[in-house]
Amino acid sequence: MDDVATMDDVATATPKQEASRETDTAPLFQPYRLGPFNLPHRVVMAPLTRSRARPPGNVPDALAACYYAQRASAALIVGEATQVSMQGQGYAWTPGIHSREQVGAWRRITDAVHQAGGLMFCQLWHVGRISHPALQPDNMLPVAPSAVIPAGKAFIENDRGEGTLVPFVRPRALDIEEMPYVVAQYVRAARNAVAADFDGVEIHAANGYLLDQFIESGTNRRNDAYGGAVESRTRLLFEVIEALTPVWGPDRIGVRISPMGKLNDIHDDNPQATFGYVAERLSEYQLGYLHMVNPALEQMQNGKEPDPHALDMAKLVRNRFRGTLVVAGGFDAESGARWLREGWADLIAYGRKFLANPDLPDRLRLGAALNEDDPSTYYGGGEKGYTDYPSMAQDRGEQPKACVDQSWR
Ligand SMILES: Cc1cc2nc3c(=O)[nH]c(=O)nc-3n(C[C@H](O)[C@H](O)[C@H](O)COP(=O)(O)O)c2cc1C
Repeated sequence: MDDVATMDDVATATPKQEASRETDTAPLFQPYRLGPFNLPHRVVMAPLTRSRARPPGNVPDALAACYYAQRASAALIVGEATQVSMQGQGYAWTPGIHSREQVGAWRRITDAVHQAGGLMFCQLWHVGRISHPALQPDNMLPVAPSAVIPAGKAFIENDRGEGTLVPFVRPRALDIEEMPYVVAQYVRAARNAVAADFDGVEIHAANGYLLDQFIESGTNRRNDAYGGAVESRTRLLFEVIEALTPVWGPDRIGVRISPMGKLNDIHDDNPQATFGYVAERLSEYQLGYLHMVNPALEQMQNGKEPDPHALDMAKLVRNRFRGTLVVAGGFDAESGARWLREGWADLIAYGRKFLANPDLPDRLRLGAALNEDDPSTYYGGGEKGYTDYPSMAQDRGEQPKACVDQSWR
């Protein structure tokens, strides 16, 4: 923890330095009206899988309530990807929102966030082919738009209860008759999210998971109503949105996409045409927001200027989508504020920085140094690397607040 600022460091900044930092980052701290919510600033917490749900049953526990409540100063918390069904699970120990026990646990988590003054959406997730029979009901094959095997490995639990990587298998292509049942999985999860007292839902259509596998041409080889032209490849996404609208109302629904993303062996032959169309059509739904993973993520996280093609992609989505645009990926305070100032985004989501800094908005506002994130504790485990990243108050010597409710660990 060698780069943690103390309040003394902040106090020794000259008035001129402080003034210029404030003007540089001021756009991040302007309030924003998001559907029914008045956000005090523009710093959103991006969805972050932490793989700490309790087996059997993949139920999040009291530690998750503590972790999210610590981060309640986010303008909005987008919770970790949460499987809509057993079929939708792709990694060991990720939480679901399809069982009664899970809903009860989520309710305690949203309660802790609300008590701390925060807002929280549930990210609804079906992984499609990014799974393994070991994670599927009755060890069945994972499902996908087409039987195209992904490159890479699945993360499962072995016989000793440890996490391990195994090669992906060839998924089974969904029959057209099954499509309503896929939509029904999202509807049940969305209803459960109401029961769990979330403030809204984000449909995960990014990062090479099921909805993205339908959208992008590299994984969709179908020649029925769900494949071929972009209008057909995006059909499942729009069916899900239309099915969820009566449950949540459009302004409490967000959609996440990742144009030009490469995660999970995904690609599209013409991302401009595909995502230009998606952004245009999404505008018809008066959604709460569209959440885009920054196409220039790779360069920006390495401190480089965005690649012009990637920036063009981001601007295309911005121009085609008439509504609130959240962008995530590779931002610090300055670049986030710049994107807001340029009008390339309305809200900025931070992933790894929020993971490691529970009080990120205050740190960005003050220009305080940030805790470094530790990738070895991203997934699985307990408190270490989860609830023990210090706040600035702790850096000043205050005791951490006890936030784990032992009655339901
Ligand atoms: C540990 C970890 C877990 C993640 N889990 C999710 C997830 O559950 N859902 C999702 O859409 N993106 C997920 N992402 C991607 C982040 O939301 C975000 O887009 C990415 O980290 C880039 O933003 P950053 O540069 O601010 O970290 C994850 C990223 C990390 C590092």
